[in-house]
Amino acid sequence: MAFNVVLQPSGLQFSATDDVSILKSAEIAGMALPYGCRGGSCGSCKGKLLTGQLEREDEDPFALSEDDRAAGFALLCVAKPRSDVTIEIAEVARLADIVVKTMPSRITTIERVAPDVVLVTLKLPAAEAFDFRAGQYIELMFKDGERRAFSLANPPHQTGSVQLQIRLAENSYSTRMFTEVLKERDILRFEGPLGTFQRNPDSSKPMIMVAGGTGFAPIKSMLDDMAYKGIEREVHLYRGSRDRTGLYLSQLPEQWTASLPGFKYVPVLSDATPACAWTGRTGFVHQAVLDDFANLSDFEVYVCGAPVMVDAARRDFAARGLPPEAFFADAFTPATTKK
Ligand code: FES
Repeated sequence: MAFNVVLQPSGLQFSATDDVSILKSAEIAGMALPYGCRGGSCGSCKGKLLTGQLEREDEDPFALSEDDRAAGFALLCVAKPRSDVTIEIAEVARLADIVVKTMPSRITTIERVAPDVVLVTLKLPAAEAFDFRAGQYIELMFKDGERRAFSLANPPHQTGSVQLQIRLAENSYSTRMFTEVLKERDILRFEGPLGTFQRNPDSSKPMIMVAGGTGFAPIKSMLDDMAYKGIEREVHLYRGSRDRTGLYLSQLPEQWTASLPGFKYVPVLSDATPACAWTGRTGFVHQAVLDDFANLSDFEVYVCGAPVMVDAARRDFAARGLPPEAFFADAFTPATTKK
């Protein structure tokens, strides 16, 4: 059965059937709504139900708090219409020209850059263009049918190949694939680009970027993209890691300091040991931002990392005056690792 969906404040409308999510119906109608995990876990697709009824499933409390639910918010990637509905949500018109494709690629390098991180480079077919926005991700499609999502770490202007930063962990499917099964020159298909995490090109507000672990990947892509385009915005990069080894590719902040006027770098270790010989900031990375900024009302914030960090940042930065529309996040949820 089909229902009418009206988006506010734009007033745009589309038809949505009751067997797929509102997000999916919007995409079929050619409208780009914000999303990340597509599995009810990240909160990127949050919209406010103004009128009508939704069937709602699999909403992770991390992504949608009790207060959000009480205020009428729903996760549109896991909500289906049960009547005509009106929903308040901003569209992402600037992604309308991005085409999601299934691409073959060839693994050119698998390089260990930290005890628990490998950089994987995938060569793309010469004859086929692959366009994306800095901040987006792809889903690797393994031969056994498993899919895993990883942010693109290279900037869009570096064509011909894509780069991923993959965290290694015990009992992890992708760890086994990239340490035991796959090797250089193997073919790997992927779908992408996906997700709506990206820099707001219409803003000149100072940016605070918070990267936890391999959440550094999309942030790196955005900063490389800004340097390439000569974008001059004040940027404060807070990079969190357990210990010093997690600050891999450590030459990059120096390069950005040289190429991006207004770039400042604050590495933060949560579990520094004497072996780290660390004299810098310690503690939780989002707390370092709170320690440095009493008022966030004039900033835009871009956060990528574990859901617990993203959730704490969303809550605590809002309490410091950050407007909801100035908070951009990509949470590495279980659904992000298998959609
Ligand atoms: S919760 Fe809907 S896209 Fe992540």
